[in-house]
Amino acid sequence: MTDALLEVEDLKVEFTTEDGLVTAVNGVGFSVRPGETLAIVGESGSGKSVSALSVMGLIDKPGRIAGGEITFEGRSLRSLSEREYRSLRGGDLAMIFQDPLSSLNPAVRVGDQIAEALLTHTYESKKAARRQAAVLLELVGIPHAGDRARDYPHQFSGGMRQRAMIAMAIANQPKLLIADEPTTALDVTIQAQVLEVLRKAQRETDAAMLLITHDLGVVAGVADRVAVMYAGRIVEEGTLDELFYSPRHPYTIGLLNSLPRLDSDRSVPLRTIPGTPPSVLNLPPGCALAPRCLYMQDHCLEATPELTAVGPETHRSACFRAAELPDLVGAVTDASS
Ligand SMILES: Nc1ncnc2c1ncn2[C@@H]1O[C@H](COP(=O)(O)OP(=O)(O)O)[C@@H](O)[C@H]1O
Ligand SMILES: [Mg+2]
Repeated sequence: MTDALLEVEDLKVEFTTEDGLVTAVNGVGFSVRPGETLAIVGESGSGKSVSALSVMGLIDKPGRIAGGEITFEGRSLRSLSEREYRSLRGGDLAMIFQDPLSSLNPAVRVGDQIAEALLTHTYESKKAARRQAAVLLELVGIPHAGDRARDYPHQFSGGMRQRAMIAMAIANQPKLLIADEPTTALDVTIQAQVLEVLRKAQRETDAAMLLITHDLGVVAGVADRVAVMYAGRIVEEGTLDELFYSPRHPYTIGLLNSLPRLDSDRSVPLRTIPGTPPSVLNLPPGCALAPRCLYMQDHCLEATPELTAVGPETHRSACFRAAELPDLVGAVTDASS
């Protein structure tokens, strides 16, 4: 796709550990077009953060990008110098982390941190930057933003800190906003509010977004497209509707089944995915889901299925049985009801 803002191809990221080589990301590819929201969903340890950090140029030892291409606005990011990367980060490319305390400086007033980000990239006057910082804090719903700008991070609640992080991330009108589990550390009641603020911030700036979450429930109504990750690979990718209404990978089906549903038919039992994700340390051959998969066949233990189109071009699955899956799922559901 040439109209992509961000294009990641065949990305491979490895960590050297005492126990051996960990392949955290193993041939991942995705693209984000201007203004669109791509969600990356998967269990903890599936390689979501490592993928995001690779795009941000933040993979450090003992990790390394062992292969693949990352292209942003037609420019290859893997060949950027640290200095070039620094001018991109916080400018056209911004990231929001799960834990705002780790990215806010505890010793600097919240408003000053945002002003600093503005001065680094777009503003020249300190006074104007301070004023804009308060405007941004107001945009993300901080009450009495002008006064609160003079507070230190510890004087903010968790939800308010995450709002401040969003304000900082959009300060320089990024073209791409990467949000890595932006609401996971928050109370459930605050999560929805912060997600709404994130969407508003995205709309105001026309930014594209890469939304990373372990919670498939979060992406409904937010994402245009979804990529599902498992053990360092993308196992299914499609539009929001394709993923939710015609999933073609057993792992996605498992995730959907484990979502609590208010309108659920009580005669169908709530099913979670049995077992635990594999260690990505010295992964065995075959499909990584096979040991946990209800539809596994001998073949699945020997060869690794490639991500291939199922029906529409936008919809791809890495399952040998993707085509027959709707029938198989029907049979299992009938048998258990
Ligand atoms: N600094 C590191 N050293 C060793 N292994 C790491 C490091 N960072 C991540 N990993 C491994 O990479 C895998 C993917 O991690 P991550 O991308 O953080 O998962 P998640 O999907 O939860 O964001 C995990 O198995 C993790 O153990
Ligand atoms: Mg993570």
